[in-house]
Amino acid sequence: MKLTNKTVLVTGGTGGIGMALAKQLIEHGNVVIVTGRDQDKLDEATRLVPGLNGVRSDVSDPAAIVDLHAQVIDRFPGLDVLINNVGIMRNLNLNQERDLADVTREIEVNLMGPVRMVQQFLPHLKTRGEALIVNVSSGLAFVPMPASPVYCAAKAAIHSFSQSLRVQLEGTGVTVIELAPPGVETRLFREEFKVETRGQKAMAPEELARRAIAGIEAGRDEIRPGQSNLLKTLSRLAPRLALAQMAKLSKPGH
Ligand SMILES: NC(=O)c1ccc[n+]([C@@H]2O[C@H](COP(=O)([O-])OP(=O)(O)OC[C@H]3O[C@@H](n4cnc5c(N)ncnc54)[C@H](OP(=O)(O)O)[C@@H]3O)[C@@H](O)[C@H]2O)c1
Repeated sequence: MKLTNKTVLVTGGTGGIGMALAKQLIEHGNVVIVTGRDQDKLDEATRLVPGLNGVRSDVSDPAAIVDLHAQVIDRFPGLDVLINNVGIMRNLNLNQERDLADVTREIEVNLMGPVRMVQQFLPHLKTRGEALIVNVSSGLAFVPMPASPVYCAAKAAIHSFSQSLRVQLEGTGVTVIELAPPGVETRLFREEFKVETRGQKAMAPEELARRAIAGIEAGRDEIRPGQSNLLKTLSRLAPRLALAQMAKLSKPGH
């Protein structure tokens, strides 16, 4: 799909990868709407990126998704691209006692969120003739980093879900693309994982966005920039070695 003159909804677009995508999509002549939970961040994003539209919405709340859908379809009936970008990632040591409601948070945000967004927006997208869903997974969908077990499980599930969705939507005019970023220089990558990622070079969000747009326009099903492609290859050729490498990263200093 050529990404010009489209109307694009990017979840979690007030920072990081989502904001870089939003900015470039506007530069390519698209109408872009971003979401986030924090109104101040939305105001700041729309101030920094001229032409950007912001709607407050929490992707882990089903009622908020219904409300977002109503608002977006009313204001932007030409919506034809949904980018499920929101994601959270935490270090979770499963040997520690955990609150049962909290331990599954990444599943609610990173898996249940996109599944519900697809379900809610699909009837509209199918009316567009040509439409696109982009699900943002991760290189860690192919090989887990054991320090973030629930995150990696949710991302592996998004990979699987995207494959099934693509098959189910054949012939509907709705294309499904998975974007699996490598480490990208964002808040998610640097804050929680300062120790693990020390000394590692990550991709700039602008470069990731550029590669994502190029991959979409080239018609790729799965876009795996940089290390993500390596992880996918290793997961097939040398799965034990790949896991051992990720296990090392999960035990910094040991
Ligand atoms: N950065 C990496 O190294 C990397 C690597 C592989 C995959 N990814 C994936 O790429 C995607 C974007 O990551 P990022 O690094 O750009 O993250 P980020 O910098 O932390 O940005 C996350 C965005 O999502 C929003 N958000 C968080 N929780 C939300 C919720 N429940 N509902 C709605 N919005 C929410 C945040 O705004 P509010 O806080 O205001 O809600 C923010 O706009 C994620 O799916 C992530 O898993 C990232």
